[in-house]
Parts: sequence; structure tokens; C-alpha cells
Amino acid sequence: MRILFTGGSGKAGRVVVPYLMAQGHRVLNVDKVALDVPGVDNLIADITDSGQMFNALSAYAGFDELEPGTGVPKFDAVVHFAAVPRILMAPDNETYRVNVMGTYNVMEAATKLGIRKIVFASSETTYGICFADGMRQPEYIPLDEEHPVVPEDSYAMSKVVNEVTGRSFHQRSGADIYGLRINNVISPEQYESDFPVWLENPDMRRRNFFAYIDARDLGQIVDRCLKTDGLGFQIFNASNDDHSVALTTPQIIERYYADVPLARAMGEEETFYSNRKAREMLGFRQEHFWRKYTRDPRG
Ligand SMILES: NC(=O)c1ccc[n+]([C@@H]2O[C@H](COP(=O)([O-])OP(=O)(O)OC[C@H]3O[C@@H](n4cnc5c(N)ncnc54)[C@H](O)[C@@H]3O)[C@@H](O)[C@H]2O)c1
Repeated sequence: MRILFTGGSGKAGRVVVPYLMAQGHRVLNVDKVALDVPGVDNLIADITDSGQMFNALSAYAGFDELEPGTGVPKFDAVVHFAAVPRILMAPDNETYRVNVMGTYNVMEAATKLGIRKIVFASSETTYGICFADGMRQPEYIPLDEEHPVVPEDSYAMSKVVNEVTGRSFHQRSGADIYGLRINNVISPEQYESDFPVWLENPDMRRRNFFAYIDARDLGQIVDRCLKTDGLGFQIFNASNDDHSVALTTPQIIERYYADVPLARAMGEEETFYSNRKAREMLGFRQEHFWRKYTRDPRG
């Protein structure tokens, strides 16, 4: 597929873009900085500028596309990751502005230009716990996509608005628009730099529901979204199957979630950030879980 990918130069994108290329897709990366990966086409553009997004989405991806003499080919899909990716990086109103207007611009241009598939990055923070002031508990566990999303910070608010925006553009255009509520993205080097510390200090993972998503497995989820048509507007939690701490499900419940209703029986090592919908509707199967790369201190 011919894909326009926004934010491909970032932490997630620089792993997801090569993953998509390895599956045979052609990728034009639209970002404020280039991604230096062989075979990736780069266009420096700002998602907060609507004109630039209409331009990018109706542009040649590379010089080779001039050769057939048949005009600009159409993009088959847009993957939209560009954003201010958390609080405390930019002033709150700037985070909200970039994420809300940027997503509106990308989705408006894509749907008005007739693109039938958009996959966009939402966030685990929409559930309100990640950036809460103090300790906030889920209303039930495991968290599925039906759990209320009432966050209290500007970043997560922007992601809730992105989801509402996606639903409305689907309503108007009929395009498939899938939002990924991405859990904490783990790049391959973090199994050495961060996991050993987290395994010893599970408190550090409470705000992420003790979950994680390997960036390569996130690539697989994006690819599965690109290949799975006809689902309309959908939201998917994106996480690996297991916890990112060296505790079992009952141990975590006893220590952290004793007062939280349990919605269903859970597996011994099953994530509280349910990825059941992505597994069942997209066919996601995790490949890169932490035990492959980090020693389990329990032996
Ligand atoms: N990293 C995580 O753990 C995590 C978790 C949940 C959701 N997400 C979401 O996933 C996406 C990717 O996150 P990331 O960690 O790779 O972030 P990142 O900051 O590393 O990458 C974001 C990219 O977007 C680009 N960008 C920012 N503003 C732009 C603009 N106005 N115009 C064009 N490009 C712009 C940046 O240059 C950067 O390359 C984001 O939407 C983020 O909110 C990330």
C-alpha cells in the first residue's frame, strides 16, 4: 500500500515505519524532521497547517512517481502519529492546539481527498489515570475500550477529542478510521535500559496499568489495521499480552487493585490493559514480549 505516515521520525514511528516497509508498503513520512532510514521518503511539513496537509496528501512521494506520466498516485491509507506526545513538554494549551488541530487537518484532508483508511494514535491516557493528580483507580479491571474516558490533563483531552473527530469524519465520509489507544511504547533498547529497573520497582508502572507495547508489535497492529477493511470507526487498546512487572495478576490485584471490581476472570500473567479486541478483530499476535529480552528476576 502507498501510505502517508505523519510523525514517522519519532520514538514509535522510527520503528513502525521500517516495520511497515518490511511488509511491502511504500511510506511517505510527513514530519517536522526527516527520518533517516533507507527507502523512506520524507516531506517536511506541519500538521497544524491545513494547506500543507492537503498538499502533502496530494503530492508525489518521490521522483520515481513522475516516470509513468500518469499524474500523482492516490494514497491508500494515512497513519497519523504526529503529536506532542505527553504533558510537560509544551504549555498545556499548545499541546491541545497541536494535537486537536493537527488531527482535524490530517483527517479532513484525507477524507476530502477520498482516502478510505486512516489509522491514528490515541492513547492510554484517555482513561484518565496516567496523568491524574494523585492516585486514581480504574472503574473496573481489565480495562477494555468500553471503560469511561474522562481525563483531567490537556494531552489526554486532546486524544479524546481526536477520537470524537475521527468518529465524525467516518460518519461523513464512510472511510474506515481506527484509533489506537497506545499503551507505553517500548523501543528495543529499553529492555536493557529500563525493564530491569521496572521489574524491581512495580510502583513505577502503576500509571500504565503495569502494561506496555513493544514498538515492533505496535507496527504489527498498525499493519493489521491497514489490512483489515470494513470495520468503520473503531477504537483499539494497543498493548502486549503480559504485565511489564515481575508480579502475577493476583499479586498485582492484591497490592494495587484490591478495591477495584474485577469484570471477568483473568489469566495468571494477563495484562490489565485488555488487548482482546485487537487480537479478536485484527488478528494481532504479540511477538516481542519482555521475557524474550530481559531476565525474569523470579527465575
Ligand atoms: N510513546 C508512547 O509511549 C505513546 C503512548 C501512547 C500514545 N502515543 C502517541 O503515539 C504517537 C507517537 O508518539 P511518539 O512517542 O513516537 O512521539 P514522538 O514525540 O517521539 O514523535 C512524534 C513526532 O511527531 C512530530 N511532530 C510533532 N509536531 C508536529 C507537527 N506540528 N507537524 C509535523 N510533525 C510533528 C515530531 O517531530 C516527532 O517526530 C503520538 O501521537 C503519541 O501521542 C505515544
